[in-house]
Amino acid sequence: MGIIDAEAIGFSYDGGVPALDGVSLTIREGEFLAIVGNNGSGKSTLARHFNALLPCDSGSLRVAGLDAADGANLWAVRKACGMVFQNPDNQFVSSVAGEDVAFGLQNFDFPDGEIPARVAAALDLVHLPGFEERDPHTRSGGQKQRLAIAGVLAVEPDIVVFDEATAMLDPEGRQQVLQLVGELHQRGTTVVMITHYIEEAVGADRVAVMDAGRLLACGAPQAVLTDRGLMEQARLEPPLATRLCWELEDMFPVKQHAGDGGGEERDEAAERGGAMERVPRETSGGRAAAETGAGLPAERLAAPLPLTDEGLVDWVCR
Ligand SMILES: Nc1ncnc2c1ncn2[C@@H]1O[C@H](COP(=O)(O)OP(=O)(O)OP(=O)(O)O)[C@@H](O)[C@H]1O
Ligand SMILES: [Mg+2]
Repeated sequence: MGIIDAEAIGFSYDGGVPALDGVSLTIREGEFLAIVGNNGSGKSTLARHFNALLPCDSGSLRVAGLDAADGANLWAVRKACGMVFQNPDNQFVSSVAGEDVAFGLQNFDFPDGEIPARVAAALDLVHLPGFEERDPHTRSGGQKQRLAIAGVLAVEPDIVVFDEATAMLDPEGRQQVLQLVGELHQRGTTVVMITHYIEEAVGADRVAVMDAGRLLACGAPQAVLTDRGLMEQARLEPPLATRLCWELEDMFPVKQHAGDGGGEERDEAAERGGAMERVPRETSGGRAAAETGAGLPAERLAAPLPLTDEGLVDWVCR
């Protein structure tokens, strides 16, 4: 059993087109799961179910061992699964950071005596120690989002869902939040990261791909993000490094050993042991390469496609 177990959950807003259509997904305790998908594919709707903000129309959902459909579990589910949203400004309830971080604790009925220490510990966790008296609204975007995260962490949830939490931040703020996400995961918290930045999914344990309310795939980033058919079906762009390699493979088809079907069409390079093994797409570059006998070494195909800049350099220089 996972920390989140979704079994064929379905949901539609106002009885319209399904926003979730039979989604089954198990998220393991301590896992870092990224969820990617186009606009309107159902990512936020799924996340709102994890936090009991929305009830399933069909199927079943267990969060931290609790039946999310049982109204009696509503607050326990919300306590177990914290949410961080896109716009930090919409998440503040007070112009005093300490009061803001304390708000969630009060909502969840933590004893008054525990609250100051929990607020201080949460501010430490987001690297804003001693910020209790500051006004969140006057902080930078990255600091605002970290304060919002402190409010979630103060409650010590088992799971934290980040719904595009870096989308409105400048590069520095984004980096700060991503670092926090990594630290949270390192400490054993289950992290669900919804993102439009495909690069943010590369470091996840698994990536779930959503499209039109359905879960198309869920697996290791290496398998999911380099699956060309899947990425095309979901209308997603894989990391730049992966895309570049696809283009290179298209332009310079890989050679294969003579006798592997080259036949009459074997060229000089094939005689040396390297006729075309795969021509994924008929591009002018590919044709030119085939005609001239140019091509990528066959072992390139066996190598996993890179997801990062470093991986790309390694792949090209192999
Ligand atoms: N409050 C709402 N009322 C009615 N329909 C909604 C509501 N919120 C979302 N929807 C619809 O539900 C579907 C899924 O939306 P959702 O917001 O979950 O997608 P998303 O993957 O999070 O998209 P985005 O990347 O734009 O945030 C869409 O068709 C959307 O229009
Ligand atoms: Mg969304």
